[in-house]
Amino acid sequence: MKIANSKIVISAAWKEQWPDDKIPEFAFAGRSNVGKSTLINMLVNRIKLAYTSSRPGKTRIINFYDIDGKIRFVDLPGYGFAKVAKTEKAKWGKMIEGYLSERENLIEVILLVDLRHKPSLDDVTMYSWIKTMGFNGIVIGTKADKVKRAQLPKNLNLIRKTLNMDSDDYLLPMSSPSKRGKYDFWDMINQLLEINGFEIKFEKQ
Ligand code: GTP
Ligand code: MG
Repeated sequence: MKIANSKIVISAAWKEQWPDDKIPEFAFAGRSNVGKSTLINMLVNRIKLAYTSSRPGKTRIINFYDIDGKIRFVDLPGYGFAKVAKTEKAKWGKMIEGYLSERENLIEVILLVDLRHKPSLDDVTMYSWIKTMGFNGIVIGTKADKVKRAQLPKNLNLIRKTLNMDSDDYLLPMSSPSKRGKYDFWDMINQLLEINGFEIKFEKQ
C-alpha cells in the first residue's frame, strides 16, 4: 500500500484530546532538534506535514498524524531544551510519560538520537524507560548525512554503549535530506504491524 493521504488529526495538549479508536500508533521520542518532525515528513513524502523548526523547543504538544487511516505517527514533545523553565520541563515530562504509559494504541516508541553526538543523560533515561516499559528499544540515528562515512561506525558504537543497548537492539542510521534508511524503516513498521497482528502492509514509499 502506497501512502496516498497523511494528515494531522490533532495537536493534543491534554489526554482527553487523544483520538478515541483502535488505530495502531508509533511514537517518536527524542531531544528537541534531533529531527523527529523532519523524519515524519520524509517518511510520508511530505514537506510540511509535521511542523519543523531550526529553533528548538517548538513542539510543546503531542501531534497525531493519520497515515491513510491505517496507522498514526505520534510526534512527542522534544526534551532537553536548555532554555525552558523547570516547571515547564516537568510538565513536558509528565505529558510524555502519561502518553507512553497509558496509551493502549501504542505499538512502539522509537527513540531518535543525533548521530553526531554522544547521547545525553536524558536520552539514556528515556531509553532505559522505554525498555523497562516493555517496548523493543528501537533507535534511529538521525542526520547521517552530517557524519563522514569512516566516522559512522564509531558513532554508532558510542550510541550503543552509552544507551546500554543489547547487541540485538535495532539501531538504524537515517538521513532526511538523502532519505537514507527510509525503506528499512518502513520494513520495520511492517514487521511490527505483523507481529502485533495487524493486516496492514506498506509498500516502499
Ligand atoms: P522539536 O520539535 O523541537 O522537538 O524538534 P524535532 O526533533 O522535531 O526536530 P526538527 O524535525 O524540527 O529538526 C530540527 C532541525 O534539524 C531542522 O533544521 C531540520 O532541517 C534539521 N534536520 C532534521 N533531520 C535532519 C537530517 O537528517 N539531516 C540534516 N542535515 N538535518 C536534519
Ligand atoms: Mg518537532
